[in-house]
Amino acid sequence: MGLPNGEQSTQEFLDAQSHVWNYIFKFINSISLKCAIELGIPEIIHKHGKPLTLAKLINALPINKANSRYVYRLMRILVHSEFFVKVSISNDDEEGNEGYWLTPASHLLLKDEPLSIKPFIEVVMDPILVKPWDYMSEWLANDNHLTVFETVYGATFWAYAERVPRLSHLFNEAMACDSELVNHVVLRNSKQVFEGFESLVDVGGGTGATAKAVANAFPDMRCIVLDLPHVVAGLEGTKNLTYVGGDMFEAVPQADVVLLKWILHDWNDEDCVKILKKCKDAIGSSKDKAGKLVVIDMVMNSNRGNKKAAEDQLFYDMSMMVYLNGRERTEEEWAKLFADAGFNGYKIALELGVRSLVEVYP
Ligand SMILES: C[S@@+](CC[C@H](N)C(=O)[O-])C[C@H]1O[C@@H](n2cnc3c(N)ncnc32)[C@H](O)[C@@H]1O
Repeated sequence: MGLPNGEQSTQEFLDAQSHVWNYIFKFINSISLKCAIELGIPEIIHKHGKPLTLAKLINALPINKANSRYVYRLMRILVHSEFFVKVSISNDDEEGNEGYWLTPASHLLLKDEPLSIKPFIEVVMDPILVKPWDYMSEWLANDNHLTVFETVYGATFWAYAERVPRLSHLFNEAMACDSELVNHVVLRNSKQVFEGFESLVDVGGGTGATAKAVANAFPDMRCIVLDLPHVVAGLEGTKNLTYVGGDMFEAVPQADVVLLKWILHDWNDEDCVKILKKCKDAIGSSKDKAGKLVVIDMVMNSNRGNKKAAEDQLFYDMSMMVYLNGRERTEEEWAKLFADAGFNGYKIALELGVRSLVEVYP
């Protein structure tokens, strides 16, 4: 491999081979995780309340018992990918045995965990969303202005979701569970982002998980969720929360704070500027505080060397390319969008894992 020392060259070849194998088989990690969720493994272990032996796990699983001998192998890869740990059991009747227990990551897979991201896995790994990845090279070779998703399904993601209730339901559930995680972090640690304002509109706010949390945290704030008519159809508001069906490219209801959570990465620059201009027009101001736009999205390369976080951002960027006409953006690209839409300045106010909360001033 270009090195004069034969041994080094052999090692380099073996490392390269391992690198390729690792990447071609990486999907097995995702599929094994999906299998564990379908079988309810995290729930079974959680309900047991303490580490569960392999024998007890097999007994509790909805599998054909003739296949019991395969469960150890599934669990072995899931322990390797840190979704479970194997610990020794010290209670009397099982002394000396080992059992499986949950990790922080598998806690997020539990159905009833308030911060569960189980619905997110269900939508991302659904065959509807897996299929377009197979068409990426064909799409790149073609001369058209459609997204990969449109090439495969003949409709934009949003139009297809309106047509296929299962996709719409899975997607809205996934977005709602993601909002819970952000609500938890933003409202617990940085309530001041929304403090002192009289009204908020969550543009593309889905079924309202984020707006509901803000409305509960600030009972005197009037909160509005704007989303496509089929998304908000039949949803009931509360004393200080209302749903509006509409199109953010047409009009955005007036409010002191306009929130765009995970919206702009769905769109190309031209569409983003259109959305941002509508948002700017909608920003009002309360008695003693100037209004603002709050954007929750990714700022690329903001990971300070965290390789996993950087890879997450790349995965999202590729997803935005395949499913939608969007992208993840660097700070310079964000600054340009805000300026092009006529905003006067911005501040990256908070880091939320691989995402950031950016305040943008009209
Ligand atoms: C990625 S989701 C984000 C949902 C929510 N903000 C969140 O973070 O959980 C994008 C949302 O934009 C909505 N959307 C798409 N096109 C829209 C439009 N033209 N007007 C209003 N909402 C739209 C979708 O229905 C969806 O709920």
